[in-house]
Amino acid sequence: MSTLEAGARRLHVITWGCQMNVYDSARMADVLAPLGYAPAPVPEGADMVILNTCHIRDKAAEKLFSELGRLRRLKERRAADGGRMILAVAGCVAQAEGAEILARAPYVDIVLGPQTYHRLPEMVARAARAGGAVIETDFPAEQKFDFLPDASAPQGITAFLTIQEGCDRFCSFCVVPYTRGAEQSRPAMAVIAEARRLVAQGAREITLLGQNVNAWHGEAPDGGVWGLGRLLRELAELPGLLRLRYTTSHPRDMDDELVTAHRDLPMLMPFLHLPVQSGSDHVLAAMNRRHTAADYLRLAEKLRTARPDLALSSDFIVGHPGETEADFQATLDLVREVDFAQAFSFKYSPRPGTPAAGAPSQLPDAAKEQRLAELQALLRGQQARFNAGCVGLTLPVLFTGRGRHPGQVAGRSPFLQPVHVLGAEDLAGREIPVEIAAALPNSLSGTLTEERARA
Ligand code: SAH
Ligand code: SF4
Ligand code: F3S
Repeated sequence: MSTLEAGARRLHVITWGCQMNVYDSARMADVLAPLGYAPAPVPEGADMVILNTCHIRDKAAEKLFSELGRLRRLKERRAADGGRMILAVAGCVAQAEGAEILARAPYVDIVLGPQTYHRLPEMVARAARAGGAVIETDFPAEQKFDFLPDASAPQGITAFLTIQEGCDRFCSFCVVPYTRGAEQSRPAMAVIAEARRLVAQGAREITLLGQNVNAWHGEAPDGGVWGLGRLLRELAELPGLLRLRYTTSHPRDMDDELVTAHRDLPMLMPFLHLPVQSGSDHVLAAMNRRHTAADYLRLAEKLRTARPDLALSSDFIVGHPGETEADFQATLDLVREVDFAQAFSFKYSPRPGTPAAGAPSQLPDAAKEQRLAELQALLRGQQARFNAGCVGLTLPVLFTGRGRHPGQVAGRSPFLQPVHVLGAEDLAGREIPVEIAAALPNSLSGTLTEERARA
């Protein structure tokens, strides 16, 4: 392949799904940069379009095919103008339904699963040479991270860093173990080196990512194995880094070392996304979650003892096969008991190939709908109370850039709430105390404390 001047080719990436897909999309752009591909804001006229897909819920395939229909027209227009658009489908739908994608959309050039992104340049070369499609959905023996170039495009003040991929937990409802494969942890030194580079590029907050991030058990510098608590201690020493977070965690993988890290590391933010899914032991067992509601309550208590200002967030599924009204009430009870600062809740969506999808006791949509509405009303109330409880407090805010209105600057509280204040954009990158004056359902506003305003 000829070496091209940087930016000679235009690459447009469309990203659906979780933050790991966001991270992966950036890494695919990194791996294509040496081939001359530079990011393009729109697919019109692009030389390559990557659709990075998600399979977690709902009609993932239908959504994909409707988007592909649109891209097909752009691809045809590009061909009519004498150009060529390479169309690639990546991510979890590609992994789960690769063959079907090529059967239904033969104009797709490349189908690639999440573990093969390091092979993208070679696939592009093959697609450019051959007329036919290239498909890579095996789980390669090598770890993609060992073969991807160092992340190059700066992410800004708040950055994501994937430390772990895949999952061995096999919750009854979830496609992740099938689409992302077995759990793999990156070595500690690779993570620390990437964190250092992110900080050098201006990151002040790093969020460690993984489908089951607290299961991370990476190779230690001395050849042993570290857990996430140990890794966080190490990252907390990086000069210039102000904040650490990690997501998403499984309650069963929350070990004492990690709980202690919440006690000992002030820069580990007091906000934890710890999905519980259900408050019913019967449903938790059917989900293969391997913990009870009481286990979760005990863990929440332990974490709050370690870090008294810790705010908890969660995911819930209503209407898992076999969920009775009493099971659902147990979920509401757990929510009342824990008191969440924020949460996501979903109707159970059968995923092809997962155990729950084949269970006989599927619930009608109307029941799921009604339970979801009731759960969300309760959770919304808790979030509103949590936000209202911040009014009058002085919270450190890490500013990231321009606010919603002119003259405003925006940032995040320790609890991940967006905060807007009157102030100059050049505060971006700094963590400054803000007196919180008002709470909206999803954000806060406030004023810079007096000393700061005078400075
Ligand atoms: N690894 C994380 C979650 C990954 S998926 C964990 O272990 O909790 C993000 C959320 O999507 C899950 O927490 C779950 O609440 C939801 N989810 C996953 N599969 C689902 C399905 N089949 N139907 C509805 N919601 C689902
Ligand atoms: Fe899916 Fe999370 Fe369960 Fe793994 S732990 S199977 S990613 S829900
Ligand atoms: Fe979706 Fe795959 Fe992430 S299914 S949530 S993109 S791991």
